[in-house]
Amino acid sequence: MPDSTLPQSGAAREVTQKRSLVTELPGPRSRELAARRDAAVASGVSSLMPVFAARAAGAIVVDVDGNQLIDLGSGIAVTTVGHSVPAIVTGVQEQIEAFSHTCFTITPYEGYVAVCEALNRLTPGDFEKRSALFNSGAEAVENAVKIARRATGRDTVVVFDHAYHGRTNLTMAMTAKNMPYKDGFGPFAGEVFRAPMSYPLRDPLGTDGAAAAARAITEIESQVGAQRVACLVIEPIQGEGGFIEPAPGFLPALAAWCTANDVVFVADEVQSGFARTGRMFAVEHEGVVPDLVVTAKGIAGGMPLSAVTGRAEIMDAAHAGGIGGTYTGNPVSCAAALGVIATIESEGLVETGRRLGERLRSFLLGLQERFPEIGDVRGRGAMQAIELVVPGTHTPDAALAGRVAKYCHQQGVITLTCGTYGNVLRFLPPVTIGDELLDDALSVLAEAFETVR
Ligand SMILES: Cc1ncc(COP(=O)(O)O)c(C=O)c1O
Repeated sequence: MPDSTLPQSGAAREVTQKRSLVTELPGPRSRELAARRDAAVASGVSSLMPVFAARAAGAIVVDVDGNQLIDLGSGIAVTTVGHSVPAIVTGVQEQIEAFSHTCFTITPYEGYVAVCEALNRLTPGDFEKRSALFNSGAEAVENAVKIARRATGRDTVVVFDHAYHGRTNLTMAMTAKNMPYKDGFGPFAGEVFRAPMSYPLRDPLGTDGAAAAARAITEIESQVGAQRVACLVIEPIQGEGGFIEPAPGFLPALAAWCTANDVVFVADEVQSGFARTGRMFAVEHEGVVPDLVVTAKGIAGGMPLSAVTGRAEIMDAAHAGGIGGTYTGNPVSCAAALGVIATIESEGLVETGRRLGERLRSFLLGLQERFPEIGDVRGRGAMQAIELVVPGTHTPDAALAGRVAKYCHQQGVITLTCGTYGNVLRFLPPVTIGDELLDDALSVLAEAFETVR
């Protein structure tokens, strides 16, 4: 059994793909750094884990005290191909030695163009495309909206219940959850309309995808009017909102409505994209072809990069100089992205993620049989979650989710929570995690339920 399914870079080879705790968590060095952190870092910036990272390889994060933690979060769906992957490490090293910055809008460089070519090739849709690169997911979402408004001459942006699109002013308006993302940070950008989402666990019985789409469309048409809508922005599987996977048929019906009404259909694939769900992009599971696709996170293995990709006639609607920025598509991030894409393609990681998903799902379904607090198991590939409820009801149990996550952290397994009600445990391992390591992490999860429920 290999440690990890991928070869490792030089430094990373020294990290065995094993969980190992050599101090209590947090250890003494982490505690020292935490004290410095508290005195220096603004408290609005929170950290989930009490330990400080020293290095990472494959699916293992090594802390400053030498503890080895299993990473079931991938830095929130970023290191999808694994930490310290050679093609990324060498690409970044070579690029930074060549040059770190010229500003693409001043002196362009090949890496930017190559990333755009790759995105145009990889995103769904057999039509002429263009891409533009940015830094963060939120910045790319904002730019998708700018482009859609410019292309349609309309103002309104339709988003959904439980959506998360970022923390800038426009994307806060697009994000649903108040705490912690919006509270006290308004006023927010206008012309954002929130439509009802398809949420199979919580929708009235019998609400299939078509019915949920009809419900949303009725609200949009009656409260906004299709002729005022520039774009509809949706996460094909919602991330921070709780890994909500809409009922089959929901996304295709919305996409068809957009086409019929000249509304730009924007898939926010920031969390669900780049080989995360067993397809390159999550919309592909239902054969949906968005007009624009927003990508970030897994695109560049942790280097800051994001993108908007889509139909050439929409993307080209923005006037020269209307989109861009000093650092957008910086050459080092582009080199990392080319390393990520090469690794996904040469190692067949889309398929690896699909197989990992089967293993993860069958474990989680087994756990659900043992623990009635698990009200739902959902997601695809290496993006799966369990929603915790009071047994026999749909009442969210956020406290239990918090206890389970904390237990896992103490045992050296990085697990994340999410959800509008804070009651969802989500699993986002690197798709390259070895079976043995995944099984070890999942045995800790089972132990957590046995211990803290
Ligand atoms: C679906 C989605 N959109 C947008 C964002 C914002 O991305 P960033 O944090 O890079 O600004 C996120 C981040 O979690 C996300 O999950």
